[in-house]
Amino acid sequence: MRDFDETSITEAVIGRLAECDDPRFQRVMTALITHLHEFVREVKLTEPEWLTAIQFLTDVGRTCTDKRQEFILLSDTLGVSVLVITLNHPADQGSVESTVLGPFYWEGAPELPRGSNLAEGVTGEPTFYSGRVLGVDSRTLANALLDIWSGDGEGNYDMQMPAETGMRARGRIRTDAAGRYWFRSILPTFYPVPTDGPVGRMLRKMGRHPYRPGHIHMIVSAPGYPPVTTHLFVAGSQYLDSDAVFGMKQSLVAQFEQHAPGIGPDGERIDTRFYTVNYDFRLRPAGAAPPIEA
Ligand code: BEZ
Ligand code: FE
Repeated sequence: MRDFDETSITEAVIGRLAECDDPRFQRVMTALITHLHEFVREVKLTEPEWLTAIQFLTDVGRTCTDKRQEFILLSDTLGVSVLVITLNHPADQGSVESTVLGPFYWEGAPELPRGSNLAEGVTGEPTFYSGRVLGVDSRTLANALLDIWSGDGEGNYDMQMPAETGMRARGRIRTDAAGRYWFRSILPTFYPVPTDGPVGRMLRKMGRHPYRPGHIHMIVSAPGYPPVTTHLFVAGSQYLDSDAVFGMKQSLVAQFEQHAPGIGPDGERIDTRFYTVNYDFRLRPAGAAPPIEA
């Protein structure tokens, strides 16, 4: 058959996968074609709309550089990233939930002694973080690694500053023999995802705000326990209920307790108000991840 109508075209395109020798790829492409065609039929996509979509995706690609990934931002703001994460990292047995990595992870942050101030010279309200890293069976994990990063107290990440700024508000901290960690940084605040590109235009057209609630990022791992990419969100922060990238999870919201100026948990005098937060991360051992269906 050479002529296709508006429904037989779908079967025809899927039929061309008959010789595909990768069953998983065949399954994914079959579903992609099915849903894409169904979408086009459902909204009766017009030719100008089709061209607008092509131009938009071209623009998303052109906005990508070695420092900026507009496609991931598109995936984030459409909720696809968090859907993929949630499917692949279900939080069972009380393990810490995963959330988006975001564009501001910088590999190779310095490993610092416990108690270090990660945000030396960075604007923001002093905040003392502490807690434990445990297995889901409650065994404490010594030598677990927290790879931590955040913006400053105004939500600006070092990667958004001139290159000579270098790393700021980042560091890697290991747990002690009892699985405990502690470090100092700043109180994270809400901030917008980058809006000066096509994804920003899309958000405005959708009538959406671009803000993420206050959070600090970390990748937590331990020997025999695969890394979990997660955040701690500040309880009470603005936009907790409308995170622009849908990464907020209730289990990751922590109470940041406010203190009047005085002696901080590190024994040093602090002349401004400061915060303390305590949070335990529970990890699932290697091999406990759910299998992906073929
Ligand atoms: C962030 O948390 O920094 C972020 C995450 C996803 C998209 C943009 C920013
Ligand atoms: Fe962030």
